[in-house]
Amino acid sequence: MIASPTPTTTGPARAVRKAVVPAAGLGTRFLPATKATPKEMLPVVDKPAIQYVVEEAAAAGLDDVLMITGRNKRAIEDHFDHALELEQTLAAKGDTVRLDAVRDPARLADIHHIRQGEPLGLGHAVLCARRHIGDQPFAVLLGDDLIDPRETLLSRMLDVQGRYAGSVVALMEVPADQIHLYGCAAVEATGEQGVVRVTGLVEKPAPERAPSRYAVIGRYVLDPAVFGVLERTAPGRGGEIQLTDALQDLAAGGTVHGVVFDGLRYDTGDKAEYLRTVVRLACDRPDLGPGFTAWLKEFVAGLAGGGDGALDGTGGHLAA
Ligand code: G1P
Repeated sequence: MIASPTPTTTGPARAVRKAVVPAAGLGTRFLPATKATPKEMLPVVDKPAIQYVVEEAAAAGLDDVLMITGRNKRAIEDHFDHALELEQTLAAKGDTVRLDAVRDPARLADIHHIRQGEPLGLGHAVLCARRHIGDQPFAVLLGDDLIDPRETLLSRMLDVQGRYAGSVVALMEVPADQIHLYGCAAVEATGEQGVVRVTGLVEKPAPERAPSRYAVIGRYVLDPAVFGVLERTAPGRGGEIQLTDALQDLAAGGTVHGVVFDGLRYDTGDKAEYLRTVVRLACDRPDLGPGFTAWLKEFVAGLAGGGDGALDGTGGHLAA
């Protein structure tokens, strides 16, 4: 058993202020939509997916967000910037609701962008943040995973990092046949409910090689020691420099903990899951939910009855 730091009871003042959001992926699963539009900008109801992620970071008190982007990602920079012409037009019309919607993204945090240059993997993307981050712990939020805004996962992780030090990953139990899609953690109990010690990590294992059903979901609070490890981490699975491999190195030293999450998480990295996410979040919206849910119930009832599209009044277009 690996010796683990004993958590302090009160914990030091929270040192974490910065978040890193890797957003350099090519988004090939969503072509042709992502030919000229970054996948992070695909709308989830009426906000781009990446805005939810930045809102989550801001809600947890992180006021500095570094986006690691690549080619064709200018739309992300524009989204988190002012849009003066649009703002002037809306202001002249007195449309304060839309004006706020346009201004909000730039107000969420101090947002910075750097480019990864070459798509060498998630570990390499995180390494690109080294100079900006310096020697403080920092959060990493992956854009394909959306955590419901009512959840407090990231705040819990920051609290755990403050008490145990080292690095913290978010873990979620998934069915055995899905573990090959994730980084997978071997864990031991800590005695604290919902917090485990991570003793090993393996990136996307075959089900028979998976040490558990605990999947790393895309939230991390990392000790800056990860940079030194990443620098010497050789390309791993898929020929990419894997963040999981660097964390395995740190886990072997007993400095990685996991916060177990069983709340609402939406995966927007896959087409069917993306569609489910849009539907679920639309149902929850106070402005859209009641009308949309009523339509959805009718639509589903029509499907169950071998519906012909007549119910939705669109001649079946929505069912196609
Ligand atoms: C990445 C990580 C993986 C993690 C996953 C969470 O994989 O490499 O360890 O479990 O994100 O979404 P990706 O989904 O980018 O292939």
